[in-house]
Amino acid sequence: MSVDFSTLERRAVELLPPANDAGKAFHLICTLLKDEVPHYDWVGFYFAVPEQRLLALGPFAGAPTEHTRIPYGRGICGQSAVSEQTFVVPDVNAAENYLSCSAETRAEIVVPVFHNGAFVAEIDIDSHSRDPFSSADEEFLTRLAAAVAPFVRDVFDPQLSP
Ligand code: SME
Repeated sequence: MSVDFSTLERRAVELLPPANDAGKAFHLICTLLKDEVPHYDWVGFYFAVPEQRLLALGPFAGAPTEHTRIPYGRGICGQSAVSEQTFVVPDVNAAENYLSCSAETRAEIVVPVFHNGAFVAEIDIDSHSRDPFSSADEEFLTRLAAAVAPFVRDVFDPQLSP
């Protein structure tokens, strides 16, 4: 699957403030990625609540998920929060610590977002294709994570999280 990630990155970055307020921009980026990348079937942000060691679901595009709060350590997202590393899971059925959002999901990639050196959020993508993610996805999402990082606090304040 050939995707022009550099054009997609430019289009995503153009959505960020001042073009849109940060909350709207994050929603639009999720929708853009889901619509433009054939193997992205669910695209969302999880925000870090370090004091409670949990992740809170933020803007997303795709089917609603029951996983609106994920404790650090649980599932692929929670493991990424603990390790602060990117997780690529080519086959979720073979993953032991995995939280299912949809029976159709075959693969998942989670990329941490850092701001001023602190882990503040994740980009989470589910795919209905098996083993669809390459280093091109990882590099694209890592660059996107850096681009959105300065705006995370405008979308989500962990101090105000219930
Ligand atoms: N599959 C994730 C949970 C979030 S959903 O994919 C939206 C996990 O195992 O952490």
